[in-house]
Amino acid sequence: MKIGIDKIGFFTPNLYLDMNQLALNREVEPEKFTIGIGQEKMAVSPITQDPVTLAANAALKILNDDDKSDIDLVMFGTESGIDHSKSAGVYVHHLLGLNSSARTVELKQACYGATAALQLAKGHIALNPESKVLVLASDIARYGLQTSGEATQGAGAVAMLISANPKIMTLEDKSTYLTADIMDFWRPTYSEEAFVDGKYSNEQYINFFQKVWQQYKKETELRLEDFTAICYHLPYTKMGLKALRTVIEDGSKETQERLLDNFEISKTYNKNVGNIYTGSLYLSLLSLLEHQANLESGDRIGLYSYGSGAVGEFFSGILQPCFKDYLQKEAHEKLLTSRKELSVSEYEEVFLKTLPIDGSTVELDVGQDPAEICVAGIKGHMRQYINKKQ
Ligand code: CAA
Repeated sequence: MKIGIDKIGFFTPNLYLDMNQLALNREVEPEKFTIGIGQEKMAVSPITQDPVTLAANAALKILNDDDKSDIDLVMFGTESGIDHSKSAGVYVHHLLGLNSSARTVELKQACYGATAALQLAKGHIALNPESKVLVLASDIARYGLQTSGEATQGAGAVAMLISANPKIMTLEDKSTYLTADIMDFWRPTYSEEAFVDGKYSNEQYINFFQKVWQQYKKETELRLEDFTAICYHLPYTKMGLKALRTVIEDGSKETQERLLDNFEISKTYNKNVGNIYTGSLYLSLLSLLEHQANLESGDRIGLYSYGSGAVGEFFSGILQPCFKDYLQKEAHEKLLTSRKELSVSEYEEVFLKTLPIDGSTVELDVGQDPAEICVAGIKGHMRQYINKKQ
């Protein structure tokens, strides 16, 4: 049975910071951020958006009423969840008006959570071919002002509908994965910001990639030649390129050119949004699908997922006939071009404005936020969500 991505969309908040402005303010050469890190703009999340609303806004744009009643499993991958107990997915289930006969859970393993959800969805559909699964990947990446990770922050969500006979991409059966207990990046439950050993995290990202790729090659006998493109988890876009470069010489000149060209295209949205953790790999896939005009039905796309701590996986998908008819390129581009640029001081102000943690009541002005679904406040330790159109 063919199982895979039937629909895919993304959402990012309406505010951004230009990396050149950040570089000037932090007294580093702009090329460090734009070339060395490979980021042009960084999404900034206003207080009226959180991982729940980002995911709900992403899903809203791809689901129709039939999907809403057919979805019987919601899996929410995140590492910036808002509650130690209740799943972020349950809020989204309510905000979208999904069928109550559904299972809903949150999955956590740093940036790998949505890949785990995707693979579990595949197993669920193999047993229940009529089922549709909503996979959500939503995060706000925060390292803190004036930290070395600052230039690799971002915010956004990807929503995917997984089904049998998918319209966009089938997932191939073979995948290779690896777990090792390492401390390259983590966020203790008491901290709003992540802790990171930057250089070590870069090394481990590449180390995991090489291991799962070698294992994948051994088990499938596929080679670089067999891939039209490889998409990477992109904590910052240069990271994926560094990993690709470690294996690229195994391919013919033509393969090298194709993979490098397609890598450039696969970072289109990511370089303008920043790290969205769980959604970054899928934002890269979406960048490729919506911007590489030469892609064809039957093309094989490799995908490398990495979640610090750490779990890595290499897997692949095959593009389906007419997949282009089911993408939302115009809407995604409009989402990015209609954003408002912040100065560095405005960004710092937005960054520092967080919801109270002392139980006090807050009502937020959602009029400043064009998103349909917003956080309207907090009352009795409960976040108050609204859908402005309801
Ligand atoms: N022109 C062009 N390039 C320049 C430059 C200039 N003027 N100045 C510096 N550069 C280059 C450097 O040479 C370097 O390139 P290489 O890595 O190719 O050598 C690049 O810019 C970055 O410079 P530094 O290494 O000096 O940067 P840094 O130490 O300040 O921070 C970082 C970089 C470690 C990635 C840091 O931003 C960070 O810690 N980020 C968060 C962690 C992270 O994203 N890790 C990725 C793997 S972990 C993961 O994937 C999970 C996840 O999502 C977090």
